[in-house]
Amino acid sequence: MVLLDGNKISQEIKEEVKVDTAAILADRHRPPHLVAIIVGDNPASQTYVAHKIKACDFVGFESTVLNYPADLKESFLLRKLHSLNIDPDIDGILVQLPLPAQISEHNVIETISPEKDVDGFHPINNGRMAKNLPAPLPATPAGILELLRRYGIDPKGKHVVVVGNSNIVGSPVSTLLARENEMGRATVTTCHIHTRDLAFHTRQADILIVATGVPGLIKSDMVKEGVVVVDVGINRIDDPTRKRGYRLVGDVDFEGVSTKASHITPVPGGVGPMTIAMLLKNTLMLYKQHLAITSSPNPN
Ligand code: GUN
Repeated sequence: MVLLDGNKISQEIKEEVKVDTAAILADRHRPPHLVAIIVGDNPASQTYVAHKIKACDFVGFESTVLNYPADLKESFLLRKLHSLNIDPDIDGILVQLPLPAQISEHNVIETISPEKDVDGFHPINNGRMAKNLPAPLPATPAGILELLRRYGIDPKGKHVVVVGNSNIVGSPVSTLLARENEMGRATVTTCHIHTRDLAFHTRQADILIVATGVPGLIKSDMVKEGVVVVDVGINRIDDPTRKRGYRLVGDVDFEGVSTKASHITPVPGGVGPMTIAMLLKNTLMLYKQHLAITSSPNPN
C-alpha cells in the first residue's frame, strides 16, 4: 500500500512557487498579494486561514486577513469586496466558507471579481472549467488531481466514484475528472450520502474520492481490492487524551480500508496540505495575469 503523502507533495509545490516568486521579486515587481476574509469565529476556519497565511509567508507573498464579527451585514461585506476588486495592489481574494446564515454564499461568490477569484468558485470560472478553458480551479479538487498526477495515477478510462456533491469539492472534482484532457477522461459516478445502496457504487470504484464530512463513512467492505482512495474529510472528534481535546479523522475508516487499497491519503497530511499549495499556485497565476494587464505598454 502506498501512502499518498500530501505533506511531501505540497512542500515540493510550495518550493516551486517560492522559486518563481523570488524571480519575480528579482525583476523588481511587487510580490503577489492575497486577501483572506473570515466572518465569525468558526475554529476550523480560523485554523485553515492561519495555514493559508503561513504558506503565503513561506513562498514570499504578501497577505492580509480581514476578521469580521459573526453578525456582519451582507451589504458591508459586498461593499468591501467591491473595493478589493478595484484595488490594483491585490491579486487574489478569498472568503472562507461557511458563512453565517444572514450572508448569502452565492452573493459573496458572485461579487468577487472572476480575475481575483483564487478559489475558482465564481460561476464564470466554474463555466470556464467545465468548458476546459483556462481558469483558476477550486483548490481542493485541483490538489486531488495534482496528488494523483505526481504519484503517476492516470484517471483515463478508470471508474472514479465521488461521494459528495458539494460546490467546493464533489461537484468540481467530478467535472475535472470527466474532462477531455490529460488528467481527465475517467468514467465518473457522483454519489452522495443519500445514494441508495452506496456500497454497491463504491465497490465499483478504481479511484474512490470521499468528501461528505461524515467521519468513518467508508468501511473496508465498501471498497474493492486495489482501489485508490482519496479521503477529503477533516472531522474533529472529541479526544480528551489529546492536548487540543480533539483529533482529526477522515470520512474513510483508514485502519480497515488501507488493508485493501493500493494507494490511500492519510488524514491529516493528505488532501488538506494540497489545497493550500494549489491556492498558492492560483494566486501566482492570477498575479501574473494581473501584472501582464497592468504593466502592458500603452498602445497610445
Ligand atoms: N471552506 C472549506 N474549503 C474551502 C476553500 O477551499 N475555500 C474557501 N474559501 N472556504 C472553504
